[in-house]
Amino acid sequence: MDRIRIVGGNELHGVIPISGAKNAALPLMIASLLTDDTLTLENVPHLADVEQLIRILGNHGADISVNGRRERQGESYARTVHFTSRNIVSTTAPYELVSKMRASFWVIGPLLAREGKARVSLPGGCAIGTRPVDLFIEGLAALGANIEIDGGYVNATAPAGGLIGARYVFPKVSVGATHVLMMAATLANGTTVLGNAAREPEVVDLAKCLNAMGAKISGQGTSTVTIEGVRSLSGARHRVLPDRIETGTYAMAVAMAGGDVILEDTEASLLNTALEAIRRAGAEISETNNGIRIVRNGAGIKPVDIVTDPFPGFPTDLQAQFMGLMTRSSGISHITETIFENRFMHVQELARLGAKISLSGQTAKVEGVSRLKGAPVMATDLRASVSLVIAGLAAEGETMVSRVYHLDRGFERLEEKLTRCGAHVERVSD
Ligand code: EPZ
Repeated sequence: MDRIRIVGGNELHGVIPISGAKNAALPLMIASLLTDDTLTLENVPHLADVEQLIRILGNHGADISVNGRRERQGESYARTVHFTSRNIVSTTAPYELVSKMRASFWVIGPLLAREGKARVSLPGGCAIGTRPVDLFIEGLAALGANIEIDGGYVNATAPAGGLIGARYVFPKVSVGATHVLMMAATLANGTTVLGNAAREPEVVDLAKCLNAMGAKISGQGTSTVTIEGVRSLSGARHRVLPDRIETGTYAMAVAMAGGDVILEDTEASLLNTALEAIRRAGAEISETNNGIRIVRNGAGIKPVDIVTDPFPGFPTDLQAQFMGLMTRSSGISHITETIFENRFMHVQELARLGAKISLSGQTAKVEGVSRLKGAPVMATDLRASVSLVIAGLAAEGETMVSRVYHLDRGFERLEEKLTRCGAHVERVSD
């Protein structure tokens, strides 16, 4: 199993190209099941989760071809991928596939809308919490679906004439349930109004792509999304938006290690709250023509309190990385996680590097230390593992991160991007 070896102490200087967003690419790929035409996605990141979803979509009958052409000489590795589901050959998403990646449960929306039925395994628990699917079930039922849970599977059937537009207010903001109801409603009879919808940029990106396919969606990016059902959707060409979590992660890496780096092909507006927190911690951030410049020279890291929240709040997917940064701050910071109940597994691993963190319910109290010392640590989930890389960049000596398959789910060419900026990060294959 691969490990990542980091020798801390180097500043970061240079340019880091930001990839297409994993969490936009996944729902966009799933949306291809809504049409028998070809959906072409540009800027698709090369990640384990994307490869896994390619296998899952293939199981439903999607024909997928990847154009591996580099978009710009030597720098960006984004790919263009074509998805064609001429016929849906199976409306079942089996446990073996869904349990490997929770987002694959989302195929329930397009399958139900297009084929009138879907049998999708419950995703089960995951490392960051119980993550139920009650909102998906309640929302799809509001569109007229009959839903039964049997043997670990959700069996959903649409009424004879198809799903029926309705008004549904989410009792809690859910990114995935917003994606799924938006997709399902595109082919429903009549108009659907979703209240308390997720406002994440990835929801906006999905709506943009669905509209390019012929859907009639408005209000995306606000908490009320309206979808007028249409008879069918066509193919389209769409560019996946930049990964705001990757952007924030590298911004925090620079804030931690010090240096001067341009994050290219990204947009500050995707992560204003997180950038503001990094600024308050002492880094200078400015916008460039097509990205963000982040500089921290000499000044120390100041303590900053954050609370995770749905967009536009501080993203839960950057909470672990920010905690990594705060371990070296000059005081005490409080980090409160409100989205997932068990997203503090990085605390124990950061402690192995010398961090001083205590947990009380949903809040971590981080007492900044003047020195971290490298140690062997274990990745527990995607974002937790990259927080260990960030801490390792500022730790004295060698940090060895095991179980890096977690990192490969969501960070494209991490070691290459950091090494090019002067970090000492390498992949070690046993
Ligand atoms: C998406 O997960 C992201 N995944 C997550 O990123 C991200 O952490 C999360 O949104 C929050 O921003 C992808 O986009 C693929 P939710 P999702 O439904 O959609 C509860 C990463 O590291 N809930 O918005 O699964 C749920 O348990 C990943 O890239 C219900 O109670 O998250 C959680 O507490 C991890 N019932 C809250 O809502 C439901 O039916 C928000 O979850 C659905 C969700």
